[in-house]
Amino acid sequence: MRLDKFLAQCGVGTRKDVRTYIKDGMVKVNGQVITKPEIEINENDDVIEYLDKVVTYTGKVYYMFHKPGGCITARKDAIRKTVFDFFEGINMNGVFHVGRLDKDTEGLLLLTNDGEFEHKLMYPEKHVEKTYFFWALGSLDEEDRKKLESGISIGKGEKLTKPAKIEIDKCEMYKEFEQETCIGEFYKMDSRRYDQPVVSGYLTISEGRKHQVKRMLKAVGCFVIYLKRISIGGLTLDESLEKGQYRLLTEVEIQKALGEV
Ligand code: URA
Repeated sequence: MRLDKFLAQCGVGTRKDVRTYIKDGMVKVNGQVITKPEIEINENDDVIEYLDKVVTYTGKVYYMFHKPGGCITARKDAIRKTVFDFFEGINMNGVFHVGRLDKDTEGLLLLTNDGEFEHKLMYPEKHVEKTYFFWALGSLDEEDRKKLESGISIGKGEKLTKPAKIEIDKCEMYKEFEQETCIGEFYKMDSRRYDQPVVSGYLTISEGRKHQVKRMLKAVGCFVIYLKRISIGGLTLDESLEKGQYRLLTEVEIQKALGEV
């Protein structure tokens, strides 16, 4: 196996990261510094070290996590709860989150020690689709829908967003939404402003810019009050997982996320 592929698979970093580490002389093979990412190694016999620590291949793991609102997508935080705090007692060495969800966003988050997998899901040119369910203050007409679908400006000096898909689910007043919703955590309105329109729907994007869904909807005058990621590629969140629960992905699910089945 190629040295860079081995290190990425062991969770040392993404394929791009590990190439830099190798070129910067941080990696040894059988005691010798190697600066060529493409050299072939034997993962069973050769001793590979990164920053003088032996890298052992423990096998790949892929977790599906139902992220609740209120925790941050990070490994550690001095004050706030992180997604890793939900994996107490599990060996998470070398495991990292694939992309990020905002603190208040719920839903499907993947964690793995497979750098290749992360690379395939995260690189914009791979166009892996992610679908989000949203509730937002405001309304969406045909013109807004076209703008969201064809590409919209979400920040000064930024490129237009790539084509997206939008499906509108419900349009009603905030007071009705608040009465009927089973969502626990969402933005609460002052009761004097209950007569405001709200809209729910599904937005599917193939990029991962910061706060992208919120910014896209803001660009058409909508303010997101609830957001949940429901799918990545062909992989849908297992709704039998309660918020805060996780489970390992099956082989087929791994391929589904990558759009290979
Ligand atoms: N877009 C957002 O605005 N927030 C997220 O958490 C994910 C996508």
